Amino acid sequence: MRIREIVSCIDYVGVNDRTTQKFEALWPLPQGVSYNSYIVRGSKCTAMIDAVEISQCEHLLKNMNGAQPDYLVINHMEPDHSGAIPVLRKYFPQMTIVGNIKTLDMVKNYYGIEDNVLKIADGEELDLGGLTLRFYLTPMIHWPETMMTYVPERKLLFTGDAFGCFGALNGAVTDSDIDISPYIPEMYRYYSNIVGKYGTFVQKAINKLNCIEANYLCPTHGPVWHENLRYISSIYNRLSKYEAEPGVVIVYGSMYGNTEDMAELIADQLVQEGVRNIRIHNASYTDLSYILSDIFKYNGLIIGAP
Ligand SMILES: [Fe+2]
Ligand SMILES: [Fe+2]
Repeated sequence: MRIREIVSCIDYVGVNDRTTQKFEALWPLPQGVSYNSYIVRGSKCTAMIDAVEISQCEHLLKNMNGAQPDYLVINHMEPDHSGAIPVLRKYFPQMTIVGNIKTLDMVKNYYGIEDNVLKIADGEELDLGGLTLRFYLTPMIHWPETMMTYVPERKLLFTGDAFGCFGALNGAVTDSDIDISPYIPEMYRYYSNIVGKYGTFVQKAINKLNCIEANYLCPTHGPVWHENLRYISSIYNRLSKYEAEPGVVIVYGSMYGNTEDMAELIADQLVQEGVRNIRIHNASYTDLSYILSDIFKYNGLIIGAP
């Protein structure tokens, strides 16, 4: 397995899942999904940042390539990242689990783990030797315990699910090395499906993290954002303010085609009125995931029901 270095002493060890059909048993994954995990190697200690879903443990261990983490930092406890914790604990009994008070409560309740844990507070730092981990509590993006971890020496921020997207990684991890176009619609869909309800909290986090300089955003799903960091941040900023683009989404259900006829007629009229972005969804056919994504993206919504 090739070591995938993001920056000096920080490697990607995450995995791709091209088998699960629906994320959280709800949201389709036509392009798969990645569960991102990272290794930070200081001169004194090594830390792993977030783990992976339980079924992917074997791949994670292979990707770690013999690394022996002293710490496992948990930015988010949802099982697509925390599922591997009990297995990792068996492989690395010396490894200390790092989280905030809410994280550690969940670690105890989910996995019965109470020993060898380290509780950190907002702004607290952990010295790995030459590299520092600084923790920022960013609750409700999108769970109560969510936090982010910053490495000031590398200007790199591990963001948890924030700035994440659906879509497995195709051969490379950092956006500079890939065509990002397939990931952008998947970011809209991920945001609207998973995080959308918590825009106020995303805004709080964005304002809180304004004080730090980040050249790399390392989320738990999808590419690491470096070259396109500003563009991706602007999408997130806009979506979390519930600012939409001009356009109209028409969602309809039709038992015998009459409501459908109305939807078609309305679209026709909208075009004549100069509207250019029109998305029509037959709710019986299009998956809810895509309908939600378009509703978040465009500023007009028309619902037709029989
Ligand atoms: Fe999550
Ligand atoms: Fe996640």
